[in-house]
Amino acid sequence: VPDAASLIQQLRALVDDAGFLTDPGRTAPMLRDHRAQYRGHALAVVAPADTAAVSRVLAFCNEHRIGVVPQGGNTGYCGGATPDASSSQLLLSLERLDRVRAIDSANYTITAEAGCILAKLQSAAADADLYLPLSLGAEGSCMLGGNLSTNAGGLNVIRYGMARELVLGLEVVLPDGRVLDVLTGLRKDNTGYDIKSLFLGAEGTLGVITAACLKLYPALRSRATAFVAVRDPAAAVALLTALRGASGDCVSSFELIPRVAVELTSQHIPGVVDPLSAPSAWYVLCEISSSRPDEPLDALLEKTLAAAFDGGLVSDAAVAIDERQRELFWRLRESIPESQRKEGANIKHDISVPVSQVPRFIDVAGRWVEQHIPQGVLCAYGHLGDGNLHFNVNQRAGFTAAQLQAIEPKAKRAIHDFVKEFGGSFSAEHGIGQLKVFELERYANPLELELMQRVKHAFDPNGIMNPGKVLRRP
Ligand code: FAD
Ligand code: MLT
Ligand code: ZN
Repeated sequence: VPDAASLIQQLRALVDDAGFLTDPGRTAPMLRDHRAQYRGHALAVVAPADTAAVSRVLAFCNEHRIGVVPQGGNTGYCGGATPDASSSQLLLSLERLDRVRAIDSANYTITAEAGCILAKLQSAAADADLYLPLSLGAEGSCMLGGNLSTNAGGLNVIRYGMARELVLGLEVVLPDGRVLDVLTGLRKDNTGYDIKSLFLGAEGTLGVITAACLKLYPALRSRATAFVAVRDPAAAVALLTALRGASGDCVSSFELIPRVAVELTSQHIPGVVDPLSAPSAWYVLCEISSSRPDEPLDALLEKTLAAAFDGGLVSDAAVAIDERQRELFWRLRESIPESQRKEGANIKHDISVPVSQVPRFIDVAGRWVEQHIPQGVLCAYGHLGDGNLHFNVNQRAGFTAAQLQAIEPKAKRAIHDFVKEFGGSFSAEHGIGQLKVFELERYANPLELELMQRVKHAFDPNGIMNPGKVLRRP
């Protein structure tokens, strides 16, 4: 059996010089997650330059039973991209696979490599006068392979779906090093099982995504955005229904924001101010958009908001008068996680329930938080249009992080039990990683879990791909 030093030597020979990372200044941030909840040690850190090099590395790891942890932008929330502490796993960064391979305007597709930063892909599409709708707060650093491997959601799901729904084709390196090339841009292809979709949301446990072909859309030419004070979450849901109807289903974002998030972002994030003059317990940030030029969307939005005001759903609203103001509204929304971090510790829950059930869920689970977590403040915000809330609990002033963290296991159990009662999901968009492996075992349909284990075994019989993530080690 080769010792670690010999394995490292052989791995080094499989990649070019730039692909073998040893500088601790570079590797240290890659060996912990961005929230510093997980820290690992790796046998080696490699960043191959192309698919062929990824293939060589995986074939070698498979032969020597070396665990492989793929990593993109390392912005994930579940510790999925962090190796364990054993120094026996390989960290495989995709950051150098960063080429846009093609844009086919008539086919409305972009083909790009896994290490492309999401914002770069959005710009590449815009340069071709097209639109890539995948958008999330981490878009300046998360990467395509990570987005697809977590089946990321984000801010436009209500209109365009999760990342999975944007994928037409994939290039994947299998654990044994073979390259599965199904990198087509076909919108119709009913030829047996949809194997590629298994890699979407698999969090690197079945293979390594090296490239993908994504759907694009016509560039947006008209847009209207409003920051709205709503009576309560039920009023927000009623406003969503009204706006979907009035706009011909042109709602692209519909985000719920509680008062505490407006206070935290105004306090901690430079440039963020409360857009409205009087405080409200709840707000909505909504956007309607169209690829038709000169659509009177502002007028339509104002009319819908006026009717909601008359109906008592809305108490005040600001419709963005220009792009600058729109960006300010979005900065408030997108910096909520950062403002929470600056405020102190927090307990995160990434849950979904049917949109119609969100108000009752907030009522029931919110009351539980109030009664059982005096050291915390509920900060429930997120993608109301998708029934997805970040049902977070922030550290309350006067209490320590340790006091809040002490209640975390009990809080998780209670909140996730409520989610189950409501027919919801305990992981709406952030995935499982290592954080929620036991939650999956507890809440998944047992037959579905068994099928997942069989899929894992079929794709990765030696168990080298991201061991211990999503599913426990066999
Ligand atoms: P990483 O963190 O590097 O990896 C995530 C997982 O994918 C790991 O299991 C890793 O092993 C695997 N992986 C990475 N690349 C590959 C590959 N090429 N092949 C196979 N497996 C791979 N998420 C949302 O869904 N919606 C949001 O609105 C959202 N907002 C966020 C806001 C902020 C401020 C932050 C910090 C994060 C947010 N996230 C959100 C979470 C995160 O950004 C997403 O999960 C993102 O898709 C992860 O991409 P990444 O490149 O950083 O992946
Ligand atoms: C968001 O929507 O802001 C993220 O998915 C949640 C988070 O960063 O906590
Ligand atoms: Zn989110």
